[in-house]
Amino acid sequence: MCGIVGYVGRRPALEVVTAGLRRLEYRGYDSAGVAVLADGVLAVAKKAGKLVNLEKELGEHPLPAATAGLGHTRWATHGAPNDVNAHPHLDDAGRVAVVHNGIIENFAALRAELEERGRRLVSDTDTEVVSHLLAEEYSACGDLAEAMRLVCRRLEGAFTLVAVAAEEPGVVVGARRNSPLVAGVAQGEGFLASDVAAFIEYTRDALELGQDQVVELRRDEADGSVAVTVTGFDGRPAEVREFHIDWDASAAEKGGYDYFMLKEIAEQPKAVADTLLGRVDDAGRLSLDELRIPPEEVREVDKVVIVACGTAFHAGMIAKYAVEHWTRVPCEVELASEFRYRDPILGPRALVIAVSQSGETMDTLMALRHAREQGSKVLAICNTNGATIPRESDAVLYTHAGPEVAVASTKAFLTQLVACYLVALYLGQVRGTRSSDDIREQVRELSRSADGVERVLSTMEPVRELARSLASHDTVLFLGRHVGYPVALEGALKLKELAYMHAEGFAAGELKHGPIALIEEGVPVVVVVPSPRGGSVLHDKIVSNIQEIRARGARTVVVAEEGDEAVVPYADHLIRVPVTPPLLQPLVATVPLQVFACELATARGNEVDQPRNLAKSVTVE
Ligand code: F6R
Repeated sequence: MCGIVGYVGRRPALEVVTAGLRRLEYRGYDSAGVAVLADGVLAVAKKAGKLVNLEKELGEHPLPAATAGLGHTRWATHGAPNDVNAHPHLDDAGRVAVVHNGIIENFAALRAELEERGRRLVSDTDTEVVSHLLAEEYSACGDLAEAMRLVCRRLEGAFTLVAVAAEEPGVVVGARRNSPLVAGVAQGEGFLASDVAAFIEYTRDALELGQDQVVELRRDEADGSVAVTVTGFDGRPAEVREFHIDWDASAAEKGGYDYFMLKEIAEQPKAVADTLLGRVDDAGRLSLDELRIPPEEVREVDKVVIVACGTAFHAGMIAKYAVEHWTRVPCEVELASEFRYRDPILGPRALVIAVSQSGETMDTLMALRHAREQGSKVLAICNTNGATIPRESDAVLYTHAGPEVAVASTKAFLTQLVACYLVALYLGQVRGTRSSDDIREQVRELSRSADGVERVLSTMEPVRELARSLASHDTVLFLGRHVGYPVALEGALKLKELAYMHAEGFAAGELKHGPIALIEEGVPVVVVVPSPRGGSVLHDKIVSNIQEIRARGARTVVVAEEGDEAVVPYADHLIRVPVTPPLLQPLVATVPLQVFACELATARGNEVDQPRNLAKSVTVE
């Protein structure tokens, strides 16, 4: 939610900042703005709507050349998405500019206090109080970093802030509490951003900033070097971890695809294979090196609790089937936003797994903090190196999907599934509930699923055609059983967020308890069919469900395994997926539903990568 960039160095700051904002636009696109420092003057431009509106404005009214500046792309929380509420925000005298991600919870009291002192606040945002407070502190101490520390100590809530002051033209200062901020370092330049994608074009060397820290990038005007200083809000020097970003700028480009989402769907076979890489030793045993929970503690686990949001929650729902089947340890799955408010029963023997692509989702972060406070161990499954969720967890298993830019999650979901399967198998290995032959076979099947995804992708034209033919429909329903149920929920979520259609997923067995009333002539119903192998009862039951809805006029879209002939007479449209072990079927069955939603969104003229009202990284509760 909201993308932030700060820069000081030798390049044209405006170019660096706007290029960074382009890469961060997935975080919010309600408005965008920039400020640059030129000859002791702060020059600002901001515009409601997408970045392209700001770029047009900058084309018509160029800002002066500068080598330091900052920028912001907004997902509105306080105040409508208009020009005035767009960031940066300035103080009365226009000497300090600030951009912000998060929510300042005590802004009303601070605003009243500022207004009482005669300050004139012009926007409806919570952020503007910071620019005024910073200006006041700055005029007292003459040091922007110190002013930032003083102000941060007064703020409540979650925030990343980046600021510049006209009096300090070679200085950019950032601060963070419960909201992401990373620094990029290179010879003679420094970057601050919500995500490394903003500066990957210029450097792959980065610094992780911790909670309640202030970072100052200061250019030495004599030799052009840029010094990075990090302290706590209390002013004490802070330790920072350096890291190297292991992907390059091309990974965050569209690479010839019309949308990031199409590229990310196509990258799934590689993402699945990469997430499996190096996780099995020569003896065929799983060796999850990053999982720093000692085997004795893993043996003690008496309950697994998975917390996550949205698509990651669906991955967790699927993981429950694998964990319980392979390990016989009870597993609960809970929406992170609900978790801590129901006083869950936790303790040192509960293993809590927090699943998050971004590693910054506030609800998931709060859930994991709650679990740790109750003495539980927390394992993060995360796609973003160094993000807050893995840093605050006891252990982490990284997915290797590479950067996911499209707001709708695709490749991250598949890799979350792979990571969940690996954790479940690892639990089975350590606790002795799975034989090594069985584990080796499951890992082999996981590797084969990467080819399975590739095969599905090569047969998607009829799915696209079907999606286009449904563009004028209002409702699409999704049904599944067993692991196909979360797949149905995921298919419905993708359609809601991308095509803005009424879409709902149901457990097929629940149909007759209510949802079947929704079926009327011509309503498309996508049914995810479990494998028929081994005389599966579930398969037979879902075939009956398909007949029941078809008898009531539904247009059936059946996702079924190759060779499953029993469904053929009842399928108005048949989507084939390769044969996989039943628990792993979501890896192949989800892919056509992603393609379906993407194509329907395109056919309806929607923005595929940036659906309305959404942002990729939800850093507010
Ligand atoms: C849907 C989607 C969201 C995210 C959810 C959690 O396509 O992307 O539902 O899955 O916001 O995000 P992370 O995984 O970053 O915690």
